[in-house]
Amino acid sequence: MSSLDNKKILLGVTGGIAAYKSAVLLRALQAAGAEVRVVMTSAAQAFVTPLTFQALSGHPVYTELLDPGQEASMDHISLARWADFILVAPATADFIARVANGHANDLLSTLCLAATVPIALAPAMNQGMWLNVATQGNIETISGYGYQLWGPDEGDQACGETGPGRMLEPEALLAKVMDFFAPGPLQDVSVLLTAGGTQEPIDPVRFVGNRSSGRMGYALVEAMRDLGAEVTLISGPVSLLPPTGIEFHSIQTAQEMYAEVMARASDCNIFVAVAAVADYRPGEVAKEKIKKRNDSLSLEMVRNPDILADVSALDDAPFTVGFAAETEQVEAYAEAKRLAKGVDMIAANQVGTSEGGFESDRNALTLLWEGGRESLPMMNKSQLARQLADRIKTHYLKVENARNEN
Ligand code: C5P
Repeated sequence: MSSLDNKKILLGVTGGIAAYKSAVLLRALQAAGAEVRVVMTSAAQAFVTPLTFQALSGHPVYTELLDPGQEASMDHISLARWADFILVAPATADFIARVANGHANDLLSTLCLAATVPIALAPAMNQGMWLNVATQGNIETISGYGYQLWGPDEGDQACGETGPGRMLEPEALLAKVMDFFAPGPLQDVSVLLTAGGTQEPIDPVRFVGNRSSGRMGYALVEAMRDLGAEVTLISGPVSLLPPTGIEFHSIQTAQEMYAEVMARASDCNIFVAVAAVADYRPGEVAKEKIKKRNDSLSLEMVRNPDILADVSALDDAPFTVGFAAETEQVEAYAEAKRLAKGVDMIAANQVGTSEGGFESDRNALTLLWEGGRESLPMMNKSQLARQLADRIKTHYLKVENARNEN
């Protein structure tokens, strides 16, 4: 059985000379078990006719956004929802620029904008166009949106130049799609994760909050998802887009986060509490905006529930992972926290230094578990999240295997 069996793949073809190779790619995807529908831009049709792809795929090729006939067979939103995966090969410099800027001025760009499934682009263009600062800026932008970028390759180009910009060969693209769908080590494992900070209202316009950017939690969500886990994210307000391919719930307060987590905690295998939850909230929320009448203002704060401790205390508790941000005696305080909250693993980091922590792109962690420790050195948060996800996977599987043996 292939990892592509019954997978629905939308193959987007844009206007580059490599478009002729997309016909071979279409055949290879189908031979591997995928169901493929093809969308072509108008420039692509200058290189290869839709009839080629129609004959090979056995289905009509979609080319128009505003054509009543095509919209009647499958409208653009249904087409975006139909797909499990979108692969644009070749992706020209112009197409990349359009998706980087959120354009929806033809069918394929509209599909990319509407889609919630993963999207991969296989760039193909002249080496000068690829190396141009505008293209490189667009590539950085779309990587930030979560697009996968496959290639380009280096070598001889159709224009006679040599350099980076060749589309990856169809076999290499097929291998990447198959890899993408290959079951990960956490297949059938459900992971519940909290991220971001909570906001505790004082009155209708003010709140007590903290500086969590949500970056570490969101990077960890992507890393756990990429290991094959089914991930549910309960997130406080952050300025990040929710990662694709996961279940997402947004909350504002610690109590809302508590309710969303407790409703799911017994059904998940792993719970990771990355959120910076406000420990206290104003006891009473003023109905109207508080006026500055006096020189001082006192708020009575009441304790919020400890989500991590309460999940760990459940009879059917999942494997639990907590975070400990400390300014001093990091390991000692973190270990005390691990024991007090009864969690399986704690990830400790030093905050209040010039590098790393809450609002930074970089961080370092020390992992502590029953009878062991490991330091992950300072690196960017997405690399760190991948290493942390790997360690969580290893320890979770070890605990699961030991439980199954008993
Ligand atoms: O006690 P402290 O806030 O330092 O603990 C940090 C860890 O506990 C983090 O994993 C955080 O997400 C979790 N936590 C929680 N609910 C709270 C406070 C912290 O889940 N109310």
